[in-house]
Amino acid sequence: MNLKGRSFLTLKDFTQEEIKYLLDLSAQLKEKKKRNIAVDTLRGKNVALIFEKTSTRTRCAFEVAAHDLGMGTTYLDPSGSQIGKKESIKDTARVLGRMYEGIEYRGFGQEIVEELSKYAGVPVWNGLTNEYHPTQMLADLLTIQEQFGHLEGIRLVYMGDARYNMGNSLMVACSKMGMHFVACAPEKYFPNQELVSQCEVWAEESGGTITLTENVTAAATGADVIYTDVWVSMGEPDEVWDERIRELTPYKVTGKVMELAKPKAIFLHCLPAFHDLKTKIGKEIYEKYGVEDMEVTDEVFESPQSKVFDEAENRMHTIKAVMAATLGA
Ligand code: CP
Ligand code: NVA
Repeated sequence: MNLKGRSFLTLKDFTQEEIKYLLDLSAQLKEKKKRNIAVDTLRGKNVALIFEKTSTRTRCAFEVAAHDLGMGTTYLDPSGSQIGKKESIKDTARVLGRMYEGIEYRGFGQEIVEELSKYAGVPVWNGLTNEYHPTQMLADLLTIQEQFGHLEGIRLVYMGDARYNMGNSLMVACSKMGMHFVACAPEKYFPNQELVSQCEVWAEESGGTITLTENVTAAATGADVIYTDVWVSMGEPDEVWDERIRELTPYKVTGKVMELAKPKAIFLHCLPAFHDLKTKIGKEIYEKYGVEDMEVTDEVFESPQSKVFDEAENRMHTIKAVMAATLGA
């Protein structure tokens, strides 16, 4: 398997074998890190980390992984560079491509990261766009594999806004890996039909299935993984909170939902999560709407079934694998 020189923009561009290779490499790198065995095979290289939206996990994962691999990093924050304001993405790509061996981009439309990759001349890694979050997918798949020992046949139910980056990406990932993907939401929050049709083709090949349903009981019954995400994503206007709370509250992950799932089912969330009142936005929403949690109850989030911190840790090991594989030794 040779992924050297490839960009990592969406799992749509990767075969099942390539995804398995990246997961195996992630597991090996994780094991080595636990045993204090250094893997600094990319010594002397440098990567640029562009964040047009905020981040905790993705930024830290890229910085720690790059450091572990022996590389230097430059973090460009949402306001501290010329990108977009005084300089186009095409020009930025050609500048950074002369200085860095790889570039991470987190921001808005998928077309921006595609453009960056087209002109940079070095691998570009998507650290989240409105449409896709592929490095999160590798962490989620690794976590599921660690918990169940396999991916094929796993029934993953995504509850909430399934038409945004997380819903889209999980549908692609499941369809490629022979898993059963269920989007559970009001119909207007289903992924777009074009992507659903494409994923149905991949699911057919891999032995997976795609189901879109508004029925929580039908969706959650027999699930192996219950997954959710925030109801309002970065970059969306505050005005949408009102309709999201109204329309998505029936799709909150509660203890009752977890009871419908298999006894050994796990709960996953890409994080950050609104499960209590310990955040600024959580408090504001409580004051306005009287709700103490949103997409998941604190009970489920803090339960033994919740593997969200294993999942968060795996962001680092999987991002390390992506950089190691695409930059080569
Ligand atoms: N899950 C995730 O991407 O988290 P951050 O927004 O903190 O990077
Ligand atoms: N859908 C969320 C994911 C955060 C990791 C967002 O885009 O804000």
